[in-house]
Amino acid sequence: MQAEQNWLPRCDPLSLYSRIVGTGGYLPENIVTNSDLEKTVNTSDTWIRERTGIEQRHIAADGENTVDLAENAARKAMQAAGVLAADIDLIIVATTTADQVFPSTACLLQSRLDIHGCPAFDVQAVCTGFVYALAVADKFIKTDTSKCALVIGAETFSRIIDWSDRNTCVLFGDGAGAVVVKADSSPGILSTHLHADGDYANLLHVPSGVSSNYAAVQQGRAFVEMSGSDVFKMAVKTLGRIVDETLQANGLEYSDIDWLVPHQANTRILAATAKKLKMPMSKVINTVAKHGNTSAASIPLALDLAIRSNQIKAGDTLLLEGFGGGFTWGSALVNY
Ligand code: ACO
Repeated sequence: MQAEQNWLPRCDPLSLYSRIVGTGGYLPENIVTNSDLEKTVNTSDTWIRERTGIEQRHIAADGENTVDLAENAARKAMQAAGVLAADIDLIIVATTTADQVFPSTACLLQSRLDIHGCPAFDVQAVCTGFVYALAVADKFIKTDTSKCALVIGAETFSRIIDWSDRNTCVLFGDGAGAVVVKADSSPGILSTHLHADGDYANLLHVPSGVSSNYAAVQQGRAFVEMSGSDVFKMAVKTLGRIVDETLQANGLEYSDIDWLVPHQANTRILAATAKKLKMPMSKVINTVAKHGNTSAASIPLALDLAIRSNQIKAGDTLLLEGFGGGFTWGSALVNY
């Protein structure tokens, strides 16, 4: 074991805000188009585009795992932020598709990045995972427990999809997005809002795991099951509510938001939220067509794409929001 880095933060009461200072994203090379899926399940390119907005999704190759995607995204975010491995004092990976039961994907990633000693753990809130992880990092920084956090959403969701089930297989893809969050003397992450209601677990779940129905896992039958239209209705209603909650907490109006960076499940859900915000779709970062739903990776991937394509600029006010299995939902208001 290598010597621990000196990761204990220095106390600096002027730096009790957190700010996103770099982003990165990674998508596996292999692309599966709607036409490809037409050959394997009873679906059509037209149905998928009209009902979801999805045109293609990236799927990890055999042997390419969640930590591989996470590492690629993390290295890009660190490069963009101009930070070295030695600067990182907290690693949080949001994932539903960890490589192993344990250690956590965050610990596997920590070793890959040659970082030693700092806390590293996974967060599981399915498609809301990245917002949960960002909120946790924000609180670590605001309580002066971290100065420089690496926050990642990474998924190989394709591994928990039944590729013969047209209700789910057309929707999801693989990928990873990462951000570096640093302590700052002015507010970057303005507020975060997290919620869950486990009563809705059965509407969107993988009903097998280590301690329950493990045979399904062993036989490679641990798949996503979803009551699509129920999830759709709840997502639209809940995301509308969290927009109001977030703005009220900050004393802001709809018009104060420059960019909506939502979880990328379905263009129709994005459009409904934009309508609620009285925001044109041109102000909604939309990667649904090219990425599909990459669960916890979708928000940081969309954020990275929008920053690298100069859509989002320094000083912009961003509303990040997600909804997913659990149900879980949450938002982050960010001054970039
Ligand atoms: N191709 C063709 N037909 C299909 C397909 C397909 N891929 N999938 C379903 N259909 C059929 C259904 O069988 C049904 O046929 P029927 O009327 O003969 O029974 C018909 O299309 C309509 O099905 P619905 O489920 O009512 O279609 P809907 O318009 O609701 O769209 C969709 C389905 C796209 C899944 C939508 O409900 C949705 O996006 N739901 C939300 C998903 C989401 O937001 N998830 C968020 C979190 S994900 C996470 O946390 C892991």
